[in-house]
Amino acid sequence: MSRSYYVTTPIYYVNAEPHLGHAYTTIICDVLRRFHLLAGLDSYMQTGTDEHGDKVVQAAEAKGIPPKEYADRISLKFREAWPKLAIEPDYFIRTTDPGHVHVVQGILQKVYDQGDIYFGQYGGLYCFGCERFYTEKELIDGKCPDHLTEPTYIEEENYFFRMSRYQDWLIDYIKDHPDYIRPERYKNEVLSFLREPLEDLCISRPKTRLTWGIELPFDPKFVTYVWFDALINYVSGLGYPDGEKYQRYWPSVQHVIAKDILKPHGIFWPTMLKSAGIEPYRHLNVHGYWTVDGQKMSKSLGNVITPDLMADKFGIDAVRYYVCREMVFGLDGDFSQANFDERFNADLANDLGNLFSRSLAMLDKYFGGVVPEAETDQDLTDKGLAVMDEFGRLLPELAFHQALLAVWGLISAANHYIVDNEPWVLAKDSARKDRLAVVMNTLVQTLYRVAVLVWPVMPGAAAKMLDQLGAEGDDAARWFERARDEEPLAAGTKTGRGEALFPRIEKQAKAKKAKAPQKKAKKGKPEAAPAENIITFDDFRRLDLAVGLVTAAELVENTDRLMKLSVDLGEPEGQRTIVAGIARHYAADEMIGRRIVVVANLQPAKLKGIESRGMLLAAVDGDRMSLITPDSDVGPGTKIS
Ligand code: MSP
Repeated sequence: MSRSYYVTTPIYYVNAEPHLGHAYTTIICDVLRRFHLLAGLDSYMQTGTDEHGDKVVQAAEAKGIPPKEYADRISLKFREAWPKLAIEPDYFIRTTDPGHVHVVQGILQKVYDQGDIYFGQYGGLYCFGCERFYTEKELIDGKCPDHLTEPTYIEEENYFFRMSRYQDWLIDYIKDHPDYIRPERYKNEVLSFLREPLEDLCISRPKTRLTWGIELPFDPKFVTYVWFDALINYVSGLGYPDGEKYQRYWPSVQHVIAKDILKPHGIFWPTMLKSAGIEPYRHLNVHGYWTVDGQKMSKSLGNVITPDLMADKFGIDAVRYYVCREMVFGLDGDFSQANFDERFNADLANDLGNLFSRSLAMLDKYFGGVVPEAETDQDLTDKGLAVMDEFGRLLPELAFHQALLAVWGLISAANHYIVDNEPWVLAKDSARKDRLAVVMNTLVQTLYRVAVLVWPVMPGAAAKMLDQLGAEGDDAARWFERARDEEPLAAGTKTGRGEALFPRIEKQAKAKKAKAPQKKAKKGKPEAAPAENIITFDDFRRLDLAVGLVTAAELVENTDRLMKLSVDLGEPEGQRTIVAGIARHYAADEMIGRRIVVVANLQPAKLKGIESRGMLLAAVDGDRMSLITPDSDVGPGTKIS
């Protein structure tokens, strides 16, 4: 198997600024790049901008500047957008780069010399938006399906690429390589297109109509059709035909695109490669389209999500996680704030964040933050190793959401492992210190695997986790190798205290609730006197019951009954201290991260010198105590009524 891995995004047109759609393709390419680095491959990613053609000329004219100046501006916006999302392409290509122009002309000449380009007359329906001719059959109600405008009939003399010559070859090639184009629905779409006779491709534009393009090497009166120019970026960026990178990375290439540009990539590009005597690319991977709140993104709707917004409002790691987890590769996906918040709180703040901070807080408390010398429990260790294999199988197939589901299966297993093993109970019994060491050791080794597995998708959070776990070095391939060991973290490794990775997103509604004026009791007719032991609704309404999230807990000195809790009651209230008589039933560690029900407007009282503001509710049955908790993760401060 080839040890090199080359992944490409489409090169984006410079007539629009980067948005969620471009960002998604570029993020998943970066995830693939990072994963293959982890897997020890020589991984390389290319992106860039597509700068020739009518559309750019029109956009530049609208701004009153020359096309090159305009292209420079927008290209820079794309180049600067990617680091904001922790995307680190190895190479950024522009089709106005002299190196690219040279390679395009070289390939044109080669294809021309072998008789695959001819001069002819052509009349057809041309869409200026798409920069291509349409057949009648491709139009919907006589209009371009993308731009919904009627194409213009153009008749002119041009150069044509004999694409038809390679039709049978391409059909056979796709059939012989069933995952050449994936997922399958897009392979079928290409095959169905190939059932009709393939027309030759018009690959030139006369300079009388367009000058902003690459001149044909065999006829300076023409420039190259923008798609023939653009597709070649995938090899020109590697320094084709002699470059060292070309030898290294071609044809181990994974092209990633959305369904809008399936035809040029599924038909034009393989036939161009065949004609130029270049090996076919390895795979074409096609994803669906993003909408925002169910609608197409558009400036007029004001719903365009830019990379800046993605990084600043949603957070780099979280937004990368969200798009990978939310979209089933190949199908369309929808981005919504409510859905994002839900995923963030459930998957990141709760499942992953709590597991991490809880485990490290316990390790700190029981073993001074040092990985103990102990065995590991086989079940959770085996599950971790199995998830690594599963992840390694799913990710190269671009099944991002399934790969993440597998990792979350491991996270959930680790959370259950804590509940089942009750480290806080083991800690109370010095005779069970060895068992406690096994449990804590198993947990931190699992955390290490989780951190390494989430790195391709959430490099920032993973780096924090690895740092807190005391993992050494920053060589991704080494991390992955180590994660396959039974115990990647050596006994004696000093860990941190587990900072909060993903503080919860609080719901807007609570802030409003806090500001809302208290309703006054109805005036007018006095209410009937209540029967004894019955309270009126107004009596009940005077109680301020709310959900509180326990963020810290410790036993009050010199008692075995009282516990001091820091409880988050959401905005604007924030944290408050509550002293509760629960210490005989619950360990302090066990309380952290729990949601409890708080009587928030109880008169403050001093207990053992500590002011307690409020009380928590619990069911007490003789010796047994059971805390009242909401049955889903409602945010702190949520009112109980
Ligand atoms: N310049 C050509 C590509 C040439 S590649 C040799 C082009 N550029 S583009 O700017 O229009 O980019 C299209 C690509 O941007 C899509 O294939 C996809 O990767 C991404 N997306 C743009 N909008 C998108 C969505 N709404 N949803 C998902 N991806 C989309 O075509």
